Amino acid sequence: MMEPVRWRATGREPLPGKLCLLDQTRLPEELVSVELDDIEAIRGAICRLVVRGAPAIGCAAALGLAAVCQHSAAETAAAFLEEVSAAAERLGSARPTAVNLGWALRRCRDALDRARGTGADAAALKSVLIGEALAILEEDKALCRSIGRVGVEIFGARKGMRVLTHCNAGGLATSGYGTALAPIYAAHEAGLAPRVYADETRPLLQGSRLTAWELRQAGVDVTVICDSMAAALMRTRRVGAVIVGADRIAANGDTANKIGTYGLAVQARHHGVPFYVAAPYSTIDTSIPDGSGIPIEERDPDEVRRGFGRLTAPADVAVWNPAFDVTPAALIDGIITEKGILRAPYERSIEGFLNSRLPGRPR
Ligand code: MRU
Repeated sequence: MMEPVRWRATGREPLPGKLCLLDQTRLPEELVSVELDDIEAIRGAICRLVVRGAPAIGCAAALGLAAVCQHSAAETAAAFLEEVSAAAERLGSARPTAVNLGWALRRCRDALDRARGTGADAAALKSVLIGEALAILEEDKALCRSIGRVGVEIFGARKGMRVLTHCNAGGLATSGYGTALAPIYAAHEAGLAPRVYADETRPLLQGSRLTAWELRQAGVDVTVICDSMAAALMRTRRVGAVIVGADRIAANGDTANKIGTYGLAVQARHHGVPFYVAAPYSTIDTSIPDGSGIPIEERDPDEVRRGFGRLTAPADVAVWNPAFDVTPAALIDGIITEKGILRAPYERSIEGFLNSRLPGRPR
């Protein structure tokens, strides 16, 4: 498994240490890592997509919070918690759509509140914080593996099945094994030789730069297409499934994911291709009844006008650049989770899935 997000202890214990990120803006040209423990540098790395993908953002935010707060000079637990709250607010505002960001930060704060309730002082709380952040990272590794084990079912015994994916919901977008790519890795490991088509994914090319790169690293057969070629692909070649990741899944199954996912779902339904979303429980947000309540990030117009430095549109032309769209649940044939494939009606299957989580697992 690759490690796009990790903790590098600089002493004998987890603390002191640094948040270590594989810089995804430099791929596939260069394999470069950055080490961070400054709040604005960490927030900036999330905003600039040095680390991106919902689960990876959550892991990075939790480890980033620990990296920042280890330097706190607070003498009391109350003062330390105030600093943690301020840092978490700042990190939490970096990107609005992926629920894993706020989820991971909330989980860290809940762990601190519990520890404070048992009388922990500021020094002990620093250890609790890094402990919880590392637990989130480890849990994500296990969740992704389970999604792979569950999702491989859609391949049946078919060898060489063609799968289309969008953006990057692979190892780079998580702790290392992926969500949408996890069933593909599992099929590859099982000798089923999946053949992946990766949408290039305009405007920032996460599909061609990242998905194609990591699948090739793993020896999986991958072909890149421009986003505009997906419908033709479905019409002319037998595509067994579309599998995508998710940034936030509402209570009714409506799913926010990278811009272009909705169009792909429409095309898949037209061509009779099963359309799957793969995501862990941490990407489900039942506080939002349906997709209309999911906040959609709008990014810098220059990502479209002059992506990667070259002017590709008039310099002052108006641009609309939403980073995500919402796919209605009615277009989703299944949500691949760590515990099974959820089917419509999703209100019921999502509720049952969340209720079935192991006792004691933090929300
Ligand atoms: O803007 P990005 O690159 O963070 O968008 C990522 C996606 O849309 C992924 O598909 C999603 O976060 C799921 S990652 C397992």
